[in-house]
Amino acid sequence: MSDALTATRTILVLHGPNLNMLGRRQPEIYGTTTLDEIDEAIRQAATPRSFEIVAMQSNYEGALVDHIQRYGWVASGIIINPGALTHYSIALRDALAAVPAPAIEVHLSNIAARESFRHHSVISAVAHGTIAGLGASGYVLALHYLMDLVDLEEAHSGE
Ligand code: DQA
Repeated sequence: MSDALTATRTILVLHGPNLNMLGRRQPEIYGTTTLDEIDEAIRQAATPRSFEIVAMQSNYEGALVDHIQRYGWVASGIIINPGALTHYSIALRDALAAVPAPAIEVHLSNIAARESFRHHSVISAVAHGTIAGLGASGYVLALHYLMDLVDLEEAHSGE
C-alpha cells in the first residue's frame, strides 16, 4: 500500500514477537505452517474480493504500535496476533483503542487451555472479537469476517 491516506479495503495484519519462527517453533502447539504461508493464505483470500493486505511481523512492541498508529486510521480492519504481548502490553491495547479500525485478535493456540498466565488478554477488551485455538485458519476466518463487515457497511452507505 502506498502512504496515501485513502486505504479503504485495506486490512492490516500484525504478527507479534516470535511469530517469525512459526513452522519450527513448538510445532506441537503452533503447528507447522510458516508465517509466510499464513500471509500468503490471507492474501489469496483477500485478492478475489479486492482487498489489499498490509502484513508485518515484529519482535518489538513499539514497531507494532507505530504500524497501528500509521494504518489504524485508514485501514478498514486489523488482524492481530500480539504473541506474548497479548498478556501485558498496555501500549498495544492503547494503540488499538485509539484508532477506528476494528481489530480481530487471533491466537493459533487455545490460550484459555494453556498456562494460567496466558488466560488473560489485555487486548481482548478493545478487540472487536477474538479467535483462539483454530490454528492458521483463524487468520483467514478473521479476514472473511472483516471483509463481510466492510462490504455490508459499503452496501448500507450506498442505500
Ligand atoms: C499466541 C499465544 C501467546 O500466549 C504466545 O505468547 C504466542 C502465540 C498464539 O498464537 O497462540 O506467542 O499468541
